[in-house]
Amino acid sequence: MITSSNSVRENAPLLSLTIRQNTSAEADAIKKLINDVASEGVWFVTERYVPTTEWENVFSHPTDFPNHLLLVAEYQKRIIGWCRVFPVFGDKSQHVVDLGIGVAEDRRDQDIGTALMNVAIEWAKRQQFEKITLSVSPINARAIHVFDKVGFVRTGVRYKQFKVRDEYVDEVLMERFLI
Ligand SMILES: CC(C)(COP(=O)(O)OP(=O)(O)OC[C@H]1O[C@@H](n2cnc3c(N)ncnc32)[C@H](O)[C@@H]1OP(=O)(O)O)[C@@H](O)C(=O)NCCC(=O)NCCS
Repeated sequence: MITSSNSVRENAPLLSLTIRQNTSAEADAIKKLINDVASEGVWFVTERYVPTTEWENVFSHPTDFPNHLLLVAEYQKRIIGWCRVFPVFGDKSQHVVDLGIGVAEDRRDQDIGTALMNVAIEWAKRQQFEKITLSVSPINARAIHVFDKVGFVRTGVRYKQFKVRDEYVDEVLMERFLI
């Protein structure tokens, strides 16, 4: 049985949190945070940062791609969260973007994920996208709670889509319409 380290809320929200677009100087810090969260092993489809064209675009030229967004959450000069919104493959899906998110393990349950999601949703509306998609493991109760809270709905399941430590894990598909 795969378990997660999800917990109930214990921490107070951070008062001086900044949510903003990344800068090109921050690639290494963000990749390190992604690696830290991915190496927890249960949240993402990879256990480390894997470069893709979209990631390299936002790391090198954060403001040059109107259909890409990388947000960071900064607190006391430390990057403690990210949220990326990337285009979906294919000319016929140009109205759709896909979202991924992570918060440093020691900073969860302090409203950071919710704040990142809300800023990303407002950005996607301004860019006139029509829908945001994401996928999540069914054991990730905290993430699903946050996604529900900001208006995502479950649209399907891909059964046994992953194998984590030799156990099958489903993939829950969620989406939020913006129009
Ligand atoms: C999912 C994640 C991004 C959420 O960010 P966060 O800053 O921890 O979330 P918030 O503090 O904004 O909100 C957490 C909410 O989940 C609730 N929660 C905490 N543990 C929970 C659990 N086990 N079950 C259900 N809800 C839970 C909190 O009470 C809070 O709800 P509320 O705002 O209604 O009180 C973050 O926890 C994370 O990075 N997790 C690991 C990586 C990950 O799962 N990424 C998403 C993959 S699709």
